[in-house]
Amino acid sequence: MSCEKAYITTPIYYVNDIAHIGHAYTTIIADTLARYSRLSGLDTYFLTGTDEHGQKIEEAAKARGKSTQVYADEISATFKNLWDDFDISYDKFIRTTDADHMKGVQKAFSTMHKNGDIYKDTYKGHYCISCETFFPSIQLVDDEFCPECGKSTTVVEEESYFFRLSNYQDKLLQYYEEHPDFILPRSKRNEVIRFVEGGLTDLSITRTSFDWGVKLPEDLNDPKHVMYVWLDALMNYVTALGYGTDDANMDYWPARVQLIGKDILRFHAIYWPAFLMSLDLPLPKHIAAHGWWTRDGEKMSKSKGNVVNPREVADAYGLDNFRYFMLREVPFGGDGDFSQKALIDRINSDLGNDLGNLLNRVIGMSGKYFEGKVDSSNVAKYYQSELDEVHASLDKLEPLLFEMQIHRYLEELWRPLTVANKAIDMYQPWTLMKEGKEEEAMALNGLISAILAKVSVMLYPVMPEVCTKISNALHFTIDNESWKTLAKGTDLLAPFTLEKIDPLFPRIEEPRLEQMEPVDKKVEEKKKKTKVAEAVEAEGIALIGIDQFFQTSLKVGTVVQAEEVPKSKKLLLLQVDVGEAEPRQVVAGIKEWYSAEDMLNTQVCVVANLKPAKLMGLLSQGMLLAAKDENGLCMIRPEKPKTAGTPIG
Ligand code: MSP
Repeated sequence: MSCEKAYITTPIYYVNDIAHIGHAYTTIIADTLARYSRLSGLDTYFLTGTDEHGQKIEEAAKARGKSTQVYADEISATFKNLWDDFDISYDKFIRTTDADHMKGVQKAFSTMHKNGDIYKDTYKGHYCISCETFFPSIQLVDDEFCPECGKSTTVVEEESYFFRLSNYQDKLLQYYEEHPDFILPRSKRNEVIRFVEGGLTDLSITRTSFDWGVKLPEDLNDPKHVMYVWLDALMNYVTALGYGTDDANMDYWPARVQLIGKDILRFHAIYWPAFLMSLDLPLPKHIAAHGWWTRDGEKMSKSKGNVVNPREVADAYGLDNFRYFMLREVPFGGDGDFSQKALIDRINSDLGNDLGNLLNRVIGMSGKYFEGKVDSSNVAKYYQSELDEVHASLDKLEPLLFEMQIHRYLEELWRPLTVANKAIDMYQPWTLMKEGKEEEAMALNGLISAILAKVSVMLYPVMPEVCTKISNALHFTIDNESWKTLAKGTDLLAPFTLEKIDPLFPRIEEPRLEQMEPVDKKVEEKKKKTKVAEAVEAEGIALIGIDQFFQTSLKVGTVVQAEEVPKSKKLLLLQVDVGEAEPRQVVAGIKEWYSAEDMLNTQVCVVANLKPAKLMGLLSQGMLLAAKDENGLCMIRPEKPKTAGTPIG
């Protein structure tokens, strides 16, 4: 009998630098899903790998004076080694420079071409090498800068093959409608739908101005073109299964879940399904987009040199602890902040106090009163309501995992531990023993051991090493059988003698990483401070580069309407013309210093690309620049009247 299949993928990582915690996060989530899926008896295939073509990689190699292939080999190996050291349970590590992959991509190109989805024309526009993305001029910031990363774009005018993405607009919208959980979390789905509804233009899918990419199929006889890196990269998900070569593992397709970060959602939720439709292949069940990690509240970037190296963190705090922290700390889809303090708190509190202590208590209890023996025969007789509570929690778990609510999965998994800790406090084994209720005390011992066993089966996908230690101590094996009987079923443990093991989570008092090293020497160079930098930083202000400054869109605005916000001592409600079709509504906390009348028809400086926020229930779509000292607040305004919408910078 063939068993249900589950194909799980990570994005393939660019080889322009070594792995950071963002990469580790995606891979650890995927590894957790793959481990759970195997445990639950699904025939699982887990893919990861590296994305090695494109202009960005060619330039990174050049900058280091290396041949592109040698450079790609080196960095790809650092990813593979890291995942091996992290015991990531991948079934295949694909590289886009693999011959089979390249053949598969060419096959896909031919098929799309035959299906009438590819035509030749000229591309004219801007290209951001860092994002490997084309942008029409209208989307640029100040006619030059990339709207995604803020870096300067390159003007491109070259012959190009195009994919008829515009033909897929309606089909995609219909697909999203019919498959509401195709994009997870659901909040991200609306973003994609809005984008597609805004209109899709055909996609340039070849380049002629550089060489490092997959050539077009020979029958097209057009050797100066190489494929656009995203077409090449996205195809990895099927070429890894043998698409275009031997089709050996294509029965794993469609994927159960494809994990990505939110920054590459558009490629996976729009381009990828359109390519698949063109190839007549089914679409993956879920595209799941997680949020971004910052460090100590700041965006991580190579240029800032504040990138967290996952190997250092795992070495200092333990790999399983790191895995638990990442998955528990952040609701899937939201952004998370990495700080040693948050990590230490999670280890000491959730892991040490709740889980580790429970194991210590049961080891202590059985050692002191029963020579290490645990017998569950009478658990149901004394503790049925506790068992019911535990099983009710365990029953809720599985859907949470595949709906990508991993933090909720862990939260729910902690409930049985609370039941266990409470039971010890309430029934007090030492009192039971004093009162001669030995059978009841042994049953309590059995209850706690069973809870630990059940929790460790379900926690295993997140913390495989720790849970294996717990299962060894409790004399059972974590596998599909124990998943069925202990975690999904209501079985308890067979009688055994508990092994004494060292505490699993010794308390951490101090941060273990003095200062996390930047991942790249070049970055270290960049970080050397100039005198000016030192002076500025002494005031507690971090230096930013010009590109970061340009990420903020500042504009001159004219206040065309102003009124007080009822019941608010501080807020004024303004309508500010910033040169757009309609004025922006801005809620400003300036009422102590300016009346509505003072503000009307004056000019202000507006931060125009802030995420909208709600203040007292009113939407605010911008912020006004002002300066405040002990004498009060004043607005920052242009010295002379300027047209509404004039950029500042
Ligand atoms: N090569 C493309 C993916 C092609 S998939 C067909 C790529 N590579 S990447 O190396 O730049 O990024 C890989 C993944 O790492 C993305 O999912 C991205 O979201 C994730 N992260 C990169 N920085 C991150 C954080 N700071 N935090 C969390 N994840 C982040 O894009």
